[in-house]
Amino acid sequence: MVILLKIVIHLLAGGTFAYLFLLIDSGAFGGDPVKDIIHFTGKTAINLLIATLLVTPVVKFTKYGQLNRVRRLLGIYCFVWASSHFATFAFLDLGLDLSLLSTELVKRPYLVLGFSSWLILLAMAITSTQAMMLRLKRRWKQLHQLVYLVAILIPIHYLWSTKSEWIEPSIYIAIFVGLLIVRHQQIAKIINQLNSKVVA
Ligand code: HEM
Repeated sequence: MVILLKIVIHLLAGGTFAYLFLLIDSGAFGGDPVKDIIHFTGKTAINLLIATLLVTPVVKFTKYGQLNRVRRLLGIYCFVWASSHFATFAFLDLGLDLSLLSTELVKRPYLVLGFSSWLILLAMAITSTQAMMLRLKRRWKQLHQLVYLVAILIPIHYLWSTKSEWIEPSIYIAIFVGLLIVRHQQIAKIINQLNSKVVA
């Protein structure tokens, strides 16, 4: 069952790349294809983030613990799509002009939220192996709990990036709020731990 699910994830998350290239090749994107590619890759990354965060509540509800084994694959695909999103922006939109990047970061602060989230996803992807888990011990869990911060930053990044549209970003915000509410006990524990560290 899990093997089958992993094949479906590979086909969907990997196959979407083929679909994207087909769209680019057929000229289906409008007058500003780079913008359309940024939107396409951003949407796929956010959907994969939701899929990754859905695993735990689905396991709790169905009591089917084997599902936990697809979480890492979904997370890696989320990182791959987020990296394509970032790369499209950095290479195709800015032409890798670093001075332009700093101007853009000041002009469009939502980019800082996106970039911070990408850095967290990068750290999580690098440390996603069993060997890293054993090596980092307690710090591994702390690092991977930062995904909750990503779940707060990314919907804001999305809403902030759109100039006029607010309905779809608001739906995404509602989904992420739901995913965080389900984890309220765990999040309260993290906040308490942080508080006691600050006080100490
Ligand atoms: C270095 C990191 C990132 C950069 C530089 C970046 C940049 C951008 C830019 C330029 C836009 C389009 C704004 C416009 O319409 O003009 C955008 C939108 C968006 N980004 Fe990011 N982003 C980053 C990280 C992320 C990550 C990690 C995710 C998700 C996991 C994400 C999801 C989205 C979504 C969903 C949109 C809206 C797409 C739409 O309007 O259809 N971004 N981002």
